[in-house]
Amino acid sequence: MSGWKNYSLNKSFKKITFCYKLDLLLFMVTRMHLTLQQLKLFEAVSRLGSYTRAAEELFLTQPAVSIQVKRLEDQTGLPLFEKVGKKIFPTAAGKAMYAASLDILNRVDDLKKSIEDLKGTVKGPLQLSVVTTAKYFLPKLLGVFLQRYPDVEPKLKFTNRARVIERLMNNDDDFVVMGQIPKDDNLEAHPFLTNILGVIAPADHPLANKKEITIEELAQERFLIREAGSGTRYVFEKLLKEHEIEIEPYMELGSSEALKQAIMAGLGIAVLSLHSVQLELEVNKLTVLDVQGFPMKRRWYAVHLKGRSLSLVARTFMDFILKEGHSVLGEEYD
Ligand code: PGA
Repeated sequence: MSGWKNYSLNKSFKKITFCYKLDLLLFMVTRMHLTLQQLKLFEAVSRLGSYTRAAEELFLTQPAVSIQVKRLEDQTGLPLFEKVGKKIFPTAAGKAMYAASLDILNRVDDLKKSIEDLKGTVKGPLQLSVVTTAKYFLPKLLGVFLQRYPDVEPKLKFTNRARVIERLMNNDDDFVVMGQIPKDDNLEAHPFLTNILGVIAPADHPLANKKEITIEELAQERFLIREAGSGTRYVFEKLLKEHEIEIEPYMELGSSEALKQAIMAGLGIAVLSLHSVQLELEVNKLTVLDVQGFPMKRRWYAVHLKGRSLSLVARTFMDFILKEGHSVLGEEYD
């Protein structure tokens, strides 16, 4: 009974919140002179919780962002953020404004896409989230694509696997690019390139010339690993589990780039995508150890929620990477 009461209370509260949001939205549209640019700035400040980071993301100065948010506050007649210590937090009006801004900005993006789709032109926004390791090849693919379709407006977010999955499930992007897809029947995944993972060591490592190193032998080495949430780390941990081996990593680092530098400095060895160490292998700074079960051949995937209708821009880009990815990048991706 009390569960039911809570449910109906909750429902009424949601209704009130919804009405309040709707009122605010109508009020904004009819009475205020808001610009989309102001909403964009406000959305970035709220999401990032910082004027400075929002300014960096939008390539603006921090005062330019503060002035626009101040103008929004003047229009609303209410403060949108409050400062506690050094941090800023949205007020109740700020929270409602954030929800409304997301609504409006998404609708405008959808509108842009539908108009371009109707015209049949490959033009307009392309929003992608990409795991950090894909930064070694995706910009190149995008560069070639943009030469062909210069009116596409790409927005790329490079972040680790955990964050990419979060965005995927929220349907935040046209599609995402990742290596290790979560098990979920609601996902549609298109494989396109090969991702080869190897055990990377400094070129003069004592095991550099040894053949068929076992995982057990390897576990005696000083291991460097990526941060929690990384796809590369996920694969490595799965492998150790399969071999029932536990290792105490020597150091945890937040990017493949940092791992690479640490390996070259002689701090340890690590499992990395060969895409990320191509140059260092060529100039003999690093080497790939001959470990049993390695190199591991995996795939890159373009993934989105099943049933998501892709814009013409997104469909064209996906087609491009699926069909032409290999020829653009060369045989190491076959
Ligand atoms: P990561 O992901 O960049 O988060 O390690 C790589 C992958 O998904 O294979």
